[in-house]
Amino acid sequence: MKIKLFLAVIIFSPLLSKAQQKPNGKAIYTQRCMTCHQVDGTGAQNMIPPLIKTEYVLGDKTTLIKILLNGLSGEIKVNGDVYAGEMPSQAFLKDSEIAAVLSYVRNSFGNKAGLVTNAEVRKSRAANKKVID
Ligand code: HEC
Repeated sequence: MKIKLFLAVIIFSPLLSKAQQKPNGKAIYTQRCMTCHQVDGTGAQNMIPPLIKTEYVLGDKTTLIKILLNGLSGEIKVNGDVYAGEMPSQAFLKDSEIAAVLSYVRNSFGNKAGLVTNAEVRKSRAANKKVID
């Protein structure tokens, strides 16, 4: 009996370690986004836009990915309020980390939208580097 358990652990441990390698969207949010956008995605009045049911969070994934890759500045309107802050680029994050944190944001704070895949981030990053399309 003990041997069977031992074998099961041996056989499944590569699968477990693979699961652990997948970045945790919530952990990345806590580390990289929370200081500005707050724990519940509410942002800060007139300074940091919320991440709750905004057209950027729920809308086109390419635009959303590019906000993280390039950062964002200048005037934007979010849920009816105007912001003119500056968000620093998060391009130092890996494709899989951007995919995980955006999938987390799109399915937290009352949001419900499709997941962002590593391939989508990879594609946007590659297109982003091109000078001419
Ligand atoms: C230093 C503060 C700061 C950090 C860190 C930050 N943001 Fe932002 N973010 C902003 C500001 C300010 C804007 C609005 C920029 C503007 O006014 O043009 C913004 C805009 C956005 C928008 C588009 C507008 C909206 O609210 O829908 C999204 C989406 C977003 N941020 C997601 C994130 C995610 C995800 C992270 C973490 C990976 C992150 N931000 C990290 C400050 C920050």
